[in-house]
Amino acid sequence: MTSLRGTVIYRDLATNPAPHLTADAHTDPAAHTPAQAAAFAHRLTLIDELENADAVLIGAPMYNYSIPSTLKAWLDNTVLVGRTAGMENSKLKGTPVTVAASRGGSYAPGTPREGSEYVQNYLTAVLADALALDVNFIVPEL
Ligand SMILES: Cc1cc2nc3c(=O)[nH]c(=O)nc-3n(C[C@H](O)[C@H](O)[C@H](O)COP(=O)(O)O)c2cc1C
Repeated sequence: MTSLRGTVIYRDLATNPAPHLTADAHTDPAAHTPAQAAAFAHRLTLIDELENADAVLIGAPMYNYSIPSTLKAWLDNTVLVGRTAGMENSKLKGTPVTVAASRGGSYAPGTPREGSEYVQNYLTAVLADALALDVNFIVPEL
């Protein structure tokens, strides 16, 4: 019998947060100072990790109608135009991503709070539209 083993990388953004994106990490690599190069290198570590994943599971509890700021910081680091975004054929294209989008209430279509749902619509824009990932949501609510 053959057994297949994979590697699971667990990135806990609460205990090990990605830094907020600063101007240092957001400048042209061709003109980097040492400080800017270090900040940019950290972005590339997160991007490499994502690009090498065969599949991704993201926990995205709703915090005040939107995603946790820790997840936003990670996304700001990993969305890099010319590498992960704005590309016809990036390494991320088609990678399956499942988002567990839990929330205390319900924001389902037809409910009174439907218009206050800024998790699924936002993550669809970033993960599917910008990063070309193949996104699927699981929504535990109430
Ligand atoms: C700071 C904070 C803000 C929250 N904001 C919302 C919210 O706007 N809407 C909502 O339905 N639930 C909200 N929740 C509830 C979380 O989404 C919920 O606790 C989370 O999805 C995990 O589910 P669990 O508590 O059943 O494990 C909030 C929780 C916290 C801690």
